[in-house]
Amino acid sequence: GDIYGASRRNPPGRDYSIAAARAVADRERLLMAKEHLLSGPIIGGTLLQAGDGEAVTSPTDGRRIGTVWPAAADMADRAIAAARAAQPKWDRAGGPARAATLRAMADALEAETDSLVALLSLEAGKTLNDGVAEVREAVDFCRYYADLAERQFAGLAPLPGPVGETNSMELRGRGVFLCISPWNFPLAIFTGQIAAALAAGNAVIAKPAEQTPLVAGAAVRLFHRAGLSPDLLALLPGEGGVIGPVLTAHPGVDGVAFTGGTDTAASINRALAARPGPIIPFIAETGGLNGMFVDTTALREQVVDDVILSAFGSAGQRCSALRLLFVPEESADHLIETLKGALDALVIGDPADPASDVGPVIDEEARAALIAHRDRLSREAAILHEKAMENAPAGGSFFAPLIAEIPTPDFLEREVFGPILHIHRYRRADLPAVARALAARGYGLTLGIHSRVEGFAREVRDLVPAGNCYVNRSIIGAVVGVQPFGGEGLSGTGPKAGGPHALMRYAVERALSVNI
Ligand code: NAD
Ligand code: ALA
Repeated sequence: GDIYGASRRNPPGRDYSIAAARAVADRERLLMAKEHLLSGPIIGGTLLQAGDGEAVTSPTDGRRIGTVWPAAADMADRAIAAARAAQPKWDRAGGPARAATLRAMADALEAETDSLVALLSLEAGKTLNDGVAEVREAVDFCRYYADLAERQFAGLAPLPGPVGETNSMELRGRGVFLCISPWNFPLAIFTGQIAAALAAGNAVIAKPAEQTPLVAGAAVRLFHRAGLSPDLLALLPGEGGVIGPVLTAHPGVDGVAFTGGTDTAASINRALAARPGPIIPFIAETGGLNGMFVDTTALREQVVDDVILSAFGSAGQRCSALRLLFVPEESADHLIETLKGALDALVIGDPADPASDVGPVIDEEARAALIAHRDRLSREAAILHEKAMENAPAGGSFFAPLIAEIPTPDFLEREVFGPILHIHRYRRADLPAVARALAARGYGLTLGIHSRVEGFAREVRDLVPAGNCYVNRSIIGAVVGVQPFGGEGLSGTGPKAGGPHALMRYAVERALSVNI
């Protein structure tokens, strides 16, 4: 049977290089519904606005684009109580009924593509292509989890047993899931976590990243408009260090889905361990220290295309992005020269301009961390090339993408989140030691291999753990249901997002034996 959903199709998206589509996008940007520019606690379907709220600014030029009202601690009780009251009915309704709501959400997202792309560009600094890809991924998550809900949550599934006894089991929701998401996929990951939790029969409290409350508010409104009962999904934005601990300690939370930094996941894990009462599941998708290994049989132009996209696409702000490129000594000079040229060909600029390949990094704090890392590289490594930034608007948090050569394979201890590519030359005889040095850091998210030799690819795969390994292609842009996504070790707990087992930890398993 089609257990992995091989017959599914992913949505087509938009091509903003086509003038007509671009005109629609521009108009949507100008006419963007004002409500998209306001966010805050949404409880029972109502946006709570007390006082002036706080400014939301654009990373592109620092301009104020909207307002957010951070959630107060006492709102958690209200939102969780409402969610607990609404959840049993939603759980009892069964997977097929929930699938219908998720499909309606997918349709609503598709219909809203242009204004969401505009909002992603304004608030998160996403290029138009990245914005389209993100809306498509959010749509995919809703439809994929709808399919899983229908197949896996359709009620009692028969099991074998002795004559006279009927055995079966079913999956049910756990209760209220807390979904905590990052700013780098403020729509796709935000929507994906919620869709998974809902599909499995849970109610949801969503805590978006502090940098991107507007996209989150837009998504929550769409869920409600698509027919989801408002009490089943509340939005509680705010500083992670303030509202986060209130939510993770709350006795009304039955499970936590988190995507973000490895250190944040560790601190949430500690908070959950300190809770009295039952042990609740913690699904964490975290950072990566992602490498790509190239051998002398690799096709240079293909390597260059894939490296540029993997390291500098989305301004390097993907957990999957390429951080460490290992190149053989014999071909290193040639490859590095070609990479420099390709880096120069990128256009850094306003992400809403269809000509831009790379937009800003998310905020000044992110830029400051990258500047500090660049300083370390200039002291302890060698900066080979830095892209000039003629087109970057003033006032934005732009950072010039760069390529550096590092002296040892273990130079990077942890993830550096932005458009910096680290290159290390290796000798063939040293490959196992180099690969082990990367593996020893303990991450395990994405891995790239460029080679025409199966034995080389197998050797690297055996030495470097990674949840997603890509051979002779880029290492970013996992597609729902096609490349189920998620890491190992310091990179996450699984189950993989957009994979056939995604809903299992959002659910409880119940077995039933009936004797006559
Ligand atoms: P972050 O860890 O700073 O924040 C993530 C979320 O956690 C935010 O909503 C934040 O407010 C919240 N938070 C912070 N402290 C908290 C606390 N004590 N309790 C509860 N919640 C708290 O991460 P970020 O900067 O938003 O995102 C970038 C990181 O996310 C990178 O490390 C990237 O690799 C990772 N990421 C991983 C994946 C994946 O699928 N593996 C995908 C995207 C991003
Ligand atoms: N799932 C995203 C990717 O594969 C992070 O790039």
